[in-house]
Amino acid sequence: MDFSDPHVFALFLEVYGSLPRAGPGAPHYTLRALELVPTPTIRRVLICGAGPGAETLDLAAALPDADLLAVDILPEMVAEGRRRVSAAGLAPRVHYEVADMLEPGAEAGSVDLVWCEGAIYNVGIEAALAAWRPLLSPHGAVAFTEPVWLKAERPDELSAWWQSEYPAITDVEGIRAHIERAGYALHATFNLGSDAWWDAYYAPMEPRIEALLAAHPDDDVAAGIAAMARKEIAMFRAYPDAYSYAFFIVTPR
Ligand SMILES: C[S@@+](CC[C@H](N)C(=O)[O-])C[C@H]1O[C@@H](n2cnc3c(N)ncnc32)[C@H](O)[C@@H]1O
Repeated sequence: MDFSDPHVFALFLEVYGSLPRAGPGAPHYTLRALELVPTPTIRRVLICGAGPGAETLDLAAALPDADLLAVDILPEMVAEGRRRVSAAGLAPRVHYEVADMLEPGAEAGSVDLVWCEGAIYNVGIEAALAAWRPLLSPHGAVAFTEPVWLKAERPDELSAWWQSEYPAITDVEGIRAHIERAGYALHATFNLGSDAWWDAYYAPMEPRIEALLAAHPDDDVAAGIAAMARKEIAMFRAYPDAYSYAFFIVTPR
């Protein structure tokens, strides 16, 4: 699907653009990961691939003395993030900018914590960790989520689907290897449960798929986007024990 086509992108946003979150996650996972961060004082946070802002708002609430810079490559996501930040009264210390997470515009040595939920796969773990390292303050850390296989045994249908969607998916040990190759150590990791996929992501996505089809009958693009989203949900519904997201909290070695 060609997302640079304005019609495709506009219909894509009808399903994905107004979800509470743009990927799996939940506040209690964000807060659990934050508790595992070993950095003694967190004053400056960089949130990469921040999307519409769910984790940014949770982090801002949990870290009332911190300044946060949230970046996303899509102006539409940044506009939604800014709207939520402003509605929450957080604009003075939470800044949302359009930027590539590999060049987020933070000062070298200034960031105590880099946060990246459901977005590091866009650039690759090793490239991202390498790009963020010079930005970190002396005790700085990185926390990110990434899809993981939970079992060695994988149904063919599911393997084929992941192969088409994200062939780089691996398990926790595979991600540990990426972390170590990037010159970091894995400090802590935990898996996200199925609530992370349903509550703020797939459950609100399902009625949006139906609304898209109702609003654009006989539109092949709408049908294609609906089929893609339905397939993704069907895979998780069928194989919830086979894969999930996991959090990784890492520090430079
Ligand atoms: C699956 S969404 C997750 C968004 C958000 N973290 C959440 O959990 O709701 C991935 C986000 O990464 C953004 N993104 C993709 N490539 C990026 C890049 N190179 N730099 C910054 N953001 C990027 C997308 O625009 C999208 O908003």
